[in-house]
Amino acid sequence: MAVTEIETPPMTHSKVRFAAGLEPCTIQTERTTLPLSGTIPAWLRGTLYRNGPALWQAGSTTLQHWFDGFAKLHAFTIEDDGTVSFQCRMLESEQYRRSLAQGRLWRRLFSTQGTRRWYHKISQFIWPRYGDNALVNIQPIAGKMLVMTESPRQVSVNPDNLAALGDFQFTDQLRGDNTTAHPMVDPVTGELINLLTKYSKVTKHQFTRMKAGTQQRELIGVLRANEPSYHHSFGLTPRFIIFTECPFVVQPLRMVFGNSTILGSYRWKPELGLRISLLDRKTGAVLGPFKTDPFFGFHHVNAYDEGDEVVFDLPVVEGPQVFEELLMSRMVVDGIVTVPVLKRFRVNHVSGRVNHCPLGSGGFDFPIIDECQRCKPAQVIYGCGLSAGRSHDMLNQLVRRPCDGGQDLTWVEEGCYPGEPIFVAKPGGAPDDGVLLSVVLDANRSTSFLLILDATSMRELARAQVPHVVPFGFHGSFVPIGNKNGRKSDGQNS
Ligand SMILES: [Fe+2]
Repeated sequence: MAVTEIETPPMTHSKVRFAAGLEPCTIQTERTTLPLSGTIPAWLRGTLYRNGPALWQAGSTTLQHWFDGFAKLHAFTIEDDGTVSFQCRMLESEQYRRSLAQGRLWRRLFSTQGTRRWYHKISQFIWPRYGDNALVNIQPIAGKMLVMTESPRQVSVNPDNLAALGDFQFTDQLRGDNTTAHPMVDPVTGELINLLTKYSKVTKHQFTRMKAGTQQRELIGVLRANEPSYHHSFGLTPRFIIFTECPFVVQPLRMVFGNSTILGSYRWKPELGLRISLLDRKTGAVLGPFKTDPFFGFHHVNAYDEGDEVVFDLPVVEGPQVFEELLMSRMVVDGIVTVPVLKRFRVNHVSGRVNHCPLGSGGFDFPIIDECQRCKPAQVIYGCGLSAGRSHDMLNQLVRRPCDGGQDLTWVEEGCYPGEPIFVAKPGGAPDDGVLLSVVLDANRSTSFLLILDATSMRELARAQVPHVVPFGFHGSFVPIGNKNGRKSDGQNS
């Protein structure tokens, strides 16, 4: 096994059991075969790509937040012969290269300022330059393998060796300061829909579509805001884009010229409630905003139209505390205290009424569905959950949650912490016939493994053991063999 490692100081004062998943891990491994137990279905061949933070130090600058860490990519390939190979590599972004070369942070991050003097603020205002530490997601888009964060810069990587290839170049003239790492693919048209926000005195949330096979975005419509909210994803139905503005808002000029971090510039204003706007995908007209209780949620799950109503599912919390709980200094001592619960929202766009109710019980996030049910009433939502009675912890189980109120099925193993599951559909199978793939931290052994579950029974089919820890990550995708640069297809998450 060819391994390289960048020298990094270990974290100290860790108390939580899962702390190994938050330790820096800059081991870089060329493709190597992993020990495998169990049997992988013969139809399951391809690569699981994962993205997430793995290093919280840039020379003299300590990165403060889980969301600030330098990105590291991991790839698990299920080969033709049913073996599993593994490779991992730090994302060689401009942010990463410049920060390490100059011994301090090159561009401010979500909750880490670096050196920021008045002339830096003026310069950034007039000639904005954005970081490219794309640590949130990795998806095959427009013939490339793209790694993404909320910066408008998205980085193309070589899907075979994970080497960075430079910025993805859109061929349009649209400009913005912020996007989401959760673009959505319309299951019928194949167009890629995303949000490009341009901050100003009146901020413009520009929703765009990009036809399959192109790199050119077109504007669908614009929502304007005086105090834009923090946003991470959006919902999609055949008719509407669902934009949920939580009451965690910012004055953009304060974000640019103030002395706070980006995160510290936001304020929780519960009196605003959760505002739900529906953007007509054909006309660009906006319905709403329709107001409900003050929730915040990272991850829209699925949505659909039903008569005069739009129905969408979203794991939510009731305040902004989760952002502070995800500071590294807090996580390694306290774990996560505030865990989202999954809710179903119904918005009647004729009466303006919004209803919401829990969808199942217990902590739940990193939701996914079988993509063949996208924009329709899905039967099952999969995700990571927290066992009943546990707090100051990390999500510790994989959950299969029926949407009809049926009982959850779970996978749980003492001392293990699974990451976001990815559903891969069995070719020709019925909806929800497939497997779940998840990278799991084994805190007992201070290692990680790739877990493959039958998605119907949640029983283990196989696991492939990594010789070291894979730090907790965020999102990724599964690309079947022969489709390395294709548009998202079965099993690829949003
Ligand atoms: Fe996310």
